[in-house]
Amino acid sequence: STKKYKILDPETGALDPRIYSDETIYREEMEKVFGRSWLLIGHESLVPNPGDFFHTYMGEEPVILTRDRQGGLNAMLNVCRHRGARLTRTDDGNCASFMCVYHGWTYGLDGALEYVPGEEQAYDNKLDKTKLGLRRARVETYAGLIFATWAPDAPSLEDFLGDARWYLDTEYKRRPAGFIAYGPQKWIQPVNWKTSVDNCSDWYHVPTTHSSASNALARVMGATRYTHEWNWTVPAKHAFVNGHQIAVFETTGHEAPAEEVERLGEFRANNVAASASSIFPNTVLGMRLAIPRGPLQTEFWHFALVPADATEEEKRVLRMEHASQNGAAGTFEADDIDNWRQVSNSGATFIGAQQEQLLNMGLGNAGPHDVYPGMVTDRFVSEHNQRAFYLRYQEFMNAGSWADISLEPQTAVYEGTTAEM
Ligand code: FES
Ligand code: FE
Repeated sequence: STKKYKILDPETGALDPRIYSDETIYREEMEKVFGRSWLLIGHESLVPNPGDFFHTYMGEEPVILTRDRQGGLNAMLNVCRHRGARLTRTDDGNCASFMCVYHGWTYGLDGALEYVPGEEQAYDNKLDKTKLGLRRARVETYAGLIFATWAPDAPSLEDFLGDARWYLDTEYKRRPAGFIAYGPQKWIQPVNWKTSVDNCSDWYHVPTTHSSASNALARVMGATRYTHEWNWTVPAKHAFVNGHQIAVFETTGHEAPAEEVERLGEFRANNVAASASSIFPNTVLGMRLAIPRGPLQTEFWHFALVPADATEEEKRVLRMEHASQNGAAGTFEADDIDNWRQVSNSGATFIGAQQEQLLNMGLGNAGPHDVYPGMVTDRFVSEHNQRAFYLRYQEFMNAGSWADISLEPQTAVYEGTTAEM
């Protein structure tokens, strides 16, 4: 398509609300965003052993993630090459091969077609099995997180993440043992997937939307009460690289343990704590996926990422804590859903579609920084995140291929033993 979308005006922050509810735009997203981008599909701890598989999604496409006999990771479309039946209907497991329940074609852990009933009697030995393997996606990993893309022309995952990795390391490479991903807890909500991603560092909504949850937690557990006054004083930076977003809580004065300094270098170990981050397009970290199910429906997957070297009791507490805030029974997320639903529907009516949303907060307050890579703002409360996300989205929607999609130059200096991707 040669259509050029004007989704976000970078000068004024005006946002076209039809991007949430328009069926045509949604269909185009499936091709141009989810068909091209690197997408988080799982974590290495979900498939630790040969034969392990985990059923996941790339956009709307059902995908089987497997660990093969050689220890390699594979991501394959869960659609039989014969007539399109799904090969596995379970969420996860361990197996030697995938037999289609319709006519029995059988595929290996790497997607190769290994067995066809009646290859001689029914097909006269004319079937070229080598050309009938499952459709495979490219797979790469970063710090235990597994990503996949359908696009043969996509850059490496390393280039896709770019300097965002400098920040993400401080979360994902700080401890030598890495993480275990528990879950996911899944729930479906009548919202557009984008509203949940752009919200991840919208601290402006917290004192209002989460007022009662915050007050309750403050009373019961002595937690921080989120007020506007608190918001204005939080020492934090936000960084934006290739449409990814990182909230950096400045931990000046922190003295990290020696082994963390060794792994990350002194500066990052002591001064950088990246959290509330998003990876373009649909991942919010810790590890939450917003899986599109139509313009006005999203399936959320919440994983609890727990340090692998924690004690069993610590793991239990961390999982409980995670579930108490996020997902279906979470104190905070239930608050958000109703707002996201209304934002998602705001452009679905005739007059509503004519009224732009406004993302102009803090315009002009982000730029390059001497120490922190990417575009950086010192404002804790701003709409830089939303603008960075929607400008990247607009770039994908207007691109004919990866040749039209920019990657920011990588300038970050890595110290420590974990510098390698
Ligand atoms: Fe899978 Fe026929 S559809 S074997
Ligand atoms: Fe919220």
